[in-house]
Amino acid sequence: MTSSYINSYVGAIDQGTSSTKFIIYNHSGQQVGLHQLEHAQIYPQPGWVEHDPMEIWANTVTCIRRAMESANVDAELLEAVGITNQRESTLIWNKKTGVPYYNVIVWNDARTRGICEDLKTAGRRGIDRFREKTGLPIATYFSASKILWLLDNVPGLRDDAEKGEAIFGTLDSWLIYKLTDGQTHITDVTNASRTLLMDLTSLAWDETILRTLQIPAAMLPTIKSSSEVYAVGSPTTGDAPNPLAGVRLAGIMGDQQSALFGQTCFQAGQAKATYGTGAFLLMNTGTSAIASAHGLLTTVAFQLDKAAPVYALEGSVAYCGSLIQWLRDNLALLPSIGASEALAATVKDNGGVFFVPAFSGLFAPYWRDDARGVIVGLTAFNDKHHLVRAALESTAFQILEVLEAMEEDSGVSLQMLKVGGGMTDNNLLMQFQADILDVPVLTPQTKETTALGAAFAAGLAVGFWKNFEELRCIWSVGVKWDPYMPVKTRENLIHGWRKAVQRSVGWVD
Ligand code: G3P
Repeated sequence: MTSSYINSYVGAIDQGTSSTKFIIYNHSGQQVGLHQLEHAQIYPQPGWVEHDPMEIWANTVTCIRRAMESANVDAELLEAVGITNQRESTLIWNKKTGVPYYNVIVWNDARTRGICEDLKTAGRRGIDRFREKTGLPIATYFSASKILWLLDNVPGLRDDAEKGEAIFGTLDSWLIYKLTDGQTHITDVTNASRTLLMDLTSLAWDETILRTLQIPAAMLPTIKSSSEVYAVGSPTTGDAPNPLAGVRLAGIMGDQQSALFGQTCFQAGQAKATYGTGAFLLMNTGTSAIASAHGLLTTVAFQLDKAAPVYALEGSVAYCGSLIQWLRDNLALLPSIGASEALAATVKDNGGVFFVPAFSGLFAPYWRDDARGVIVGLTAFNDKHHLVRAALESTAFQILEVLEAMEEDSGVSLQMLKVGGGMTDNNLLMQFQADILDVPVLTPQTKETTALGAAFAAGLAVGFWKNFEELRCIWSVGVKWDPYMPVKTRENLIHGWRKAVQRSVGWVD
């Protein structure tokens, strides 16, 4: 450890779909403090998913305080803090009062299907109407249609937005606004690249798209790089003292880009998959934004201060951990997410059952809003263990399809896959993933690669870490799963999965 950093640290707020964490790292990249709190998933109607922004803010403050207490680290010892967040999830609040106009509309909320259909049919290129500029298809996933829904459905909101009084942000913007007591309204390039409103080349809000969609520019945050000192924590936030008073806020990255960074995939051709609420595979493509011919997203991977932006190809899978949560909460098939491995391991295979969890349509590489979940191949032989196993396997099949698309788009064939996220605790899933991909799968020693990426970004901005080389030394292999499934078994399983997907698409008229 560099002696000048013996008693100084970098913190990261990881504001995810299911929970919020604050993690404190020392100069060797070891975690010295962590606190995590789940927040409620609000389902007002089928296909709708919301979060309470005030609950998320309160949880963030509690996590920061508790992690700092447990590590015995006070604000003066924090060199900088980075923020990583669930992307696309959309909030609009009043710039002066900080009061939200509505709950957060979460990325996997499908209420804007009608808006998206109208946007597709109004242009000659259909789903790809804005793809050339933004790298994204028109889908309920991204922020733009959620902003439109709010502007159309919350009384008075459009007037306030036009006056610049109602402002939009993803969760990074919201937390920075709160931590600076309403003084800062910003986002970073990685988050902005998920809105369907940012031009991937100029890294600015695209005026033509804004005009077409009638989204007032005055409501949008200023776009910053992913690593620079944006602001310092204000002394108070509202009436309460700020746990990050005086601390430099110096890194922002959407959570999947942050995981790519935390996995030290700094070079073109390097890729990672994260298994959290959803599952996300990203490949660094260097300083060129590769247009996908296979339904993948082109997105900004990171931009360090004034350096050229680095791009990525991404394939997103909507339901991973959240599928197991659903089996637990809605079907009561298992007592906890952790129990899924033991339950699935009581049977030797899926017993012919395939589960396509297209609860809010299918994301990459299909982009079918009209798909819905199906469970197929059932016989009287099957029991709940097969169902749990099929649910776990569904993530691995979806990652395979994304990886195939990525290899075709990039011309790079992956020799191994770095993985992270909570579901990597599940050995059965990871072994199955290695088998289905037919390449080794490996985790780093620190599982919290998402938060680590934001810590890296903030640490680089303030000179706590000097360069990529220093960060690479922090990454070391934890567990490795090698493929050993016989070719025929693998082929049969993939064949079964593809048939199951065909049953799920076109379900919604
Ligand atoms: O695009 C959505 C993604 O950022 C959410 O990630 O880890 O909160 O499921 P996670």
